[in-house]
Amino acid sequence: MTVTAAERALDVLADFPAIPAGWAYLDTAATAQKPRPVIDAIARAYGETYATVHRGVYQRSADMTLAYEAARRRVAGFIGGQPDECVFVRGATEAINLVAQCWAGTQLKAGDRILLSQLEHHSNIVPWQMVAERVGAAIDVVPLTPDQRIDLDAMAAMLRPEHKLVALAHVSNVLGSVLDVRRAADLAHGVGAKLLIDGCQAVPRMAVDVAALGCDFYVFSGHKLYGPTGIGVLWGRAELLDAMPPYQGGGSMIDRVTFARTTYAPPPTRFEAGTPHIVGVVGLGLMGASLAMGLRRAAPAPRRLPPLWGAGQPRALPGLLPPGRPEPRSAPPGHRQGPPGAGRGGDAGDARGSGPGPHFRDRPHLLATPGLPPGSDAPG
Ligand SMILES: Cc1ncc(COP(=O)(O)O)c(C=O)c1O
Repeated sequence: MTVTAAERALDVLADFPAIPAGWAYLDTAATAQKPRPVIDAIARAYGETYATVHRGVYQRSADMTLAYEAARRRVAGFIGGQPDECVFVRGATEAINLVAQCWAGTQLKAGDRILLSQLEHHSNIVPWQMVAERVGAAIDVVPLTPDQRIDLDAMAAMLRPEHKLVALAHVSNVLGSVLDVRRAADLAHGVGAKLLIDGCQAVPRMAVDVAALGCDFYVFSGHKLYGPTGIGVLWGRAELLDAMPPYQGGGSMIDRVTFARTTYAPPPTRFEAGTPHIVGVVGLGLMGASLAMGLRRAAPAPRRLPPLWGAGQPRALPGLLPPGRPEPRSAPPGHRQGPPGAGRGGDAGDARGSGPGPHFRDRPHLLATPGLPPGSDAPG
């Protein structure tokens, strides 16, 4: 089989034109640099093949629609789902908000409970708080084990029939902890709850098969997967998506519109109102194929950081901190601080001088966790 440039594994620094020679880009957890094939595909889509999708009756539009739906099939294959179960959204944040509004917002009632964990990204906390407030539900938080994983034994003890939804990160953006999703799914389903997995940090680093994992919803962002910004995926079980009302109204998501009554398209287009991020989808589809090949070839994933981060060498790299440790109050000389007004710093710094640390602004609620080093108690 011939492997094209777009499909080979991306492990060569030269594939990333925005990383100058001599740099080591350390902010991939926040957003990945873009490899040349993705940049080329985006330039080609805008410069040569661009047209709208799903509504044009000319050849160019039909071709673009085929490319768009081919990308959906590739992305679905990449995570072991069906194309009709993959909704294109702006990113993980929008995917979680969609499930919070359209599933939880219609299924939960006063007295129901949502279970999160102590290590969740704000995107997997705030949407649930918003819907909980609206419907009168409560939120519980699973603690971490001493080695900073979601404590599934504690979760088993906490779960009650009132829990209707559990939302957990597959891989933590701050600690790197990897969740046993299969066990979490069994526990959640044991009390009749649905399980949403935030796969933002998992999808770029390990092979993901939603069918084997047993979750009900899985979300991720394209920009962390070496793809374009502004595009991401909500995967949901067909029967759940089918029963959900639309997220937004507009073109494309309809079946038939009259002034008296509108009926909606089936998923996934029911949830893709308006002209989508056509070129973003094409770029993401490319990465789905490329990374799928790379991950399949790779040795057992994920790779762990070398013992550099071990307890005995907490400051082995100047300016870098081991996961879970409090950041310095002020960055060492020569190291970039966050922009003025950004609280205790912005996100991670650039490749040469690390700023306050990876996903700095996502740490505070974690650092207030008993058993973890003390830090700010104010959510970022
Ligand atoms: C674990 C995790 N969840 C959710 C998000 C939110 O992703 P996005 O901002 O692309 O919607 C991020 C991004 O930093 C993340 O790392």
